[in-house]
Amino acid sequence: MKATAVAPANIAFIKYWGKSDSKTRIPHNSSISMNLSHVHSKCTVEFDPLLKQDDVGFVGEEIVKPKEIERIIVMLDRVRKFANKKLFALVKTRNNFPKATGIASSASGFAALSLAALTAIGKKLSGKELSIFARLSSGTACRSIPDGFVEWKKGTSSETSYAYELYSPDWWEICDVVVVVSKKMKKVSTTEGHRLADTSPFYQARLAVMNEKISQLKKYMYNRNFSSFGKLIEEDALNMHAICLTSTPALIYWEPKTIEIMKQIIEWRESKEVESYFTIDAGPSVHVICEKKNVNQIQEKLKDVSGIQQVIVNSSSIGARLSDKHLF
Ligand code: PMV
Repeated sequence: MKATAVAPANIAFIKYWGKSDSKTRIPHNSSISMNLSHVHSKCTVEFDPLLKQDDVGFVGEEIVKPKEIERIIVMLDRVRKFANKKLFALVKTRNNFPKATGIASSASGFAALSLAALTAIGKKLSGKELSIFARLSSGTACRSIPDGFVEWKKGTSSETSYAYELYSPDWWEICDVVVVVSKKMKKVSTTEGHRLADTSPFYQARLAVMNEKISQLKKYMYNRNFSSFGKLIEEDALNMHAICLTSTPALIYWEPKTIEIMKQIIEWRESKEVESYFTIDAGPSVHVICEKKNVNQIQEKLKDVSGIQQVIVNSSSIGARLSDKHLF
């Protein structure tokens, strides 16, 4: 009754921001993302008849909020109910990147936990079912289940809101150079951020164009049109942050360094030095999206920017998978 799974974090090109149902995490709009090759979570789950309660831990992390543990236990309860078994579990998770800084740790964490826990308790789900199961704990986790480039169809109910593979990882050689500018955990969770989205006077205007944006982006991806793709993803990131900035209370996820790097990226592009585009999730990290052939040049350029904490280069990756190397 023991299983281990590894799942990638993902970066959204068209962002999910705001839910139409907060309990089942059904989003107001569909979203598109890429799974990341070098930022992932590994999770081992063992259900043990001798345990009197769940025992949940994070490997190598000193600060773990009680809320994080609670959220994991809620998922374990869902797994137990689904399998109709009253067994407690020992759970260990290891992230290979800093948590809650704008790299989706809840996505990789809950995708890995879903696959590991369901396998450990003896349940095998289809990719679609697993994506739905992961979504119930963290919206973006549903996008870390399939391989490569992914669309999360918002759907109209829990059964129809899931992510599927648009293109395999080798469809397009584009990279996400993640620039971590602060390792401090963000103060406002994304759960809270989603809840505030419709307090922005601009939120309805955002939603009105989302379907069009999604179909445009899919076209650019199909044609591997990097310039049009880049412009659109940068615009969508700014649009999402405009919602955050104009919510009540306002959410400002950026640090001064975030803005400095955004401006650098625009300058490299306008001066025709190197073409790349930024996208930013709910945190200060900047994701520099570029073609693989330009990764070295971007890394070199980033060396001239002071105060960067870490740079992680990612290509497109497969989604959640089982591993036979357990954490305990
Ligand atoms: O962490 P979640 O699943 O509550 O949502 C975060 C959403 C963003 O990362 C900000 C955007 C996205 O689509 O990934």
